[in-house]
Amino acid sequence: MYQRTNLALNSHTLLLAIFVLSRHVAADDPALPPALTRGPYLQLSTPSSVSIIWRTNAETQPIVRYGLDPEQLDQSLPVASILVRRVPKVGEVPGDLSLHSAPEGTVQYDATLTGLKSGTTYYYAIGNGDKKLAGGDAEYYFRTHPEPGEVKPVRIWVVGDSGTGDARQAAVYQAMRDHVAKQKHPLDLYVHVGDMAYPSGTDEEFQRTFFNVYQPTLRNTVCWASMGNHEGKTSKGLLGVGPYYDAYVCPKRGEAGGLPSASEAFYSFDYANVHFICLDSHDLDRAPTGVMAEWLRADLEKAKSDWIIAYWHHPPYTKGSHDSDKEEALIEMRELIMPILEAGGVDLVLTGHSHIYERSMLIDGAYQTPTIAEGVVLNDGDGSPIGDGPYRKSKGLHAHQGTVQVVTGNGGAKVSRVGTSPVMKQVIVEYGSVILDVDGDTLTGVMVNRGGDERDLFSIVKQGSVVPQIVKSPRTLPLYSVAIDKPRINKSEMTPFPKKAVELIKPNSDWDYLAGSHPPEKWTALGFIPNDAGGWKSGTVGIGFGDSDDVTELKDMEKKYTVVYARTDFELPPGATEKISELGLAISYDDAFIAYLNGHEVLRVGVKKGHGATAGDIESHEADGYEYFPLKDAKQYLMEDDNILSVEGHNSNIGSSDFTLDPYLLAVPRAAE
Ligand SMILES: [Fe+2]
Repeated sequence: MYQRTNLALNSHTLLLAIFVLSRHVAADDPALPPALTRGPYLQLSTPSSVSIIWRTNAETQPIVRYGLDPEQLDQSLPVASILVRRVPKVGEVPGDLSLHSAPEGTVQYDATLTGLKSGTTYYYAIGNGDKKLAGGDAEYYFRTHPEPGEVKPVRIWVVGDSGTGDARQAAVYQAMRDHVAKQKHPLDLYVHVGDMAYPSGTDEEFQRTFFNVYQPTLRNTVCWASMGNHEGKTSKGLLGVGPYYDAYVCPKRGEAGGLPSASEAFYSFDYANVHFICLDSHDLDRAPTGVMAEWLRADLEKAKSDWIIAYWHHPPYTKGSHDSDKEEALIEMRELIMPILEAGGVDLVLTGHSHIYERSMLIDGAYQTPTIAEGVVLNDGDGSPIGDGPYRKSKGLHAHQGTVQVVTGNGGAKVSRVGTSPVMKQVIVEYGSVILDVDGDTLTGVMVNRGGDERDLFSIVKQGSVVPQIVKSPRTLPLYSVAIDKPRINKSEMTPFPKKAVELIKPNSDWDYLAGSHPPEKWTALGFIPNDAGGWKSGTVGIGFGDSDDVTELKDMEKKYTVVYARTDFELPPGATEKISELGLAISYDDAFIAYLNGHEVLRVGVKKGHGATAGDIESHEADGYEYFPLKDAKQYLMEDDNILSVEGHNSNIGSSDFTLDPYLLAVPRAAE
């Protein structure tokens, strides 16, 4: 459903090429002191060590001070042991320490502190010589891992498909932080199941949609990442290069426990009595004879923990925005990798990719395609300690005692659903993330939605000896039916998205909108000022109600009104208009709309007559992802500097049960024709 990925372009490069933005900070300007541009953030922690990473926009004299008291950072790391990575100069051959991609002049420091005490909180600060760049207060700390095997409560935050940089991602993150603060129980680890930087995982996207958003957590909690397909557009698992591998330091030599994998794309580590396994489901061989599967088998054989949690991007079981019965990566992870994990005693599998929250019953051996519930369910209850009771397994690690599957691709990207996977016990089409607690013999998972509500609760208890038994006719969820009162779009009739384009108005931008009344006739003109007109609000698109797919919800629209007016501005630098060959509107809509550029109507879909209050004969149409419409004659209305795009959305009738207006604007550069 994430159709803007079809653009498959490096929009950042293009944007720079076309418009020559003059916004970059002069990194080598001697008048300005070097500034911190990323971090500091933590990576690869163990019982005795941690890596602190940060970037500056010019050379510095890096230093890390640390200690047990924020007021007394009495230890420091010798400069010589800080790893320095740079952007290769033009014509320079990249080496092992080169950054794959980062703004010119960027220097990245990787300071690995060793000889630390296990399970201990330390405070730290980073600097440039004598000048402090960050830290030195109670916010900048790290906690070393407990000794492997030690029984201690472990709290893990799990999020996926978050990298939009928009209000939905921010709300999901804030809801987790509020939840954790309210319980006064901070995170120990952060697991990201991929798609952390849309649309292409570029360095700039990583900065904007990952580091800038999560910095308050990243400076004191390690994010143990797995690569999504969007990061895969610019990073390669086999080679271990790209912005993703610039950002993360993963244990390939078994530094944090587990078997050395010789790759940062897949790895394992221990935290207290939990063994974590990260796989690359995107661009590595998933065959049982492949390097990753061979390593996985050997790693599982060696594992001695009480719990095993495995995670990667592509879910073995899903009917969210993806279908695990139809897509190769998902089918292969189920058919080829799950048998190895279940033979090794895995307890929990965490994935994303499908923009939804889905949580399974306790299952084992569900490898066939299509997935069926018969013969694979060991407990068909809800797994809730306050409902049917927790799922039960024997103490320790045992083959085929049951796995719980959690798909949490609901961290920011537009959620949706195509059906019901027969092994699922919970399917929730809402934005949110998962907080896991492992405490001795009990693992508990909670899905907290972006409003802060606990929407799912399950637990697994491992005590004594349990003999697994297949449930004969498992109680499955009702099948999901798509509304049939409206025609679905025939996708073959849609205009394909341009192969190369720049986003003049980004997806999920904030727009001004008017809902529930009609604006004056001139509302589409440049000179119209919504703030002065009354009734206008600002909100992130999509705007609408029903089928829980809108960011800005119009709770009062149903049965009350049928039209919503939205407008937003965009800027074009001098000379840019001549470099554009085509403008196009990408829009997810329900039911119809009219678009205006600088006061001129440029596109009308499904509104047969009139406009605004006089519009009539509205056709019905179900929003089903972004569709692309070239704006044929719109270019003549483009102006240098300020432009206004306005869209009025119409519902076909007042009784309609849903409405969506979710546009963004593309320009195809002339050079790419
Ligand atoms: Fe994905």
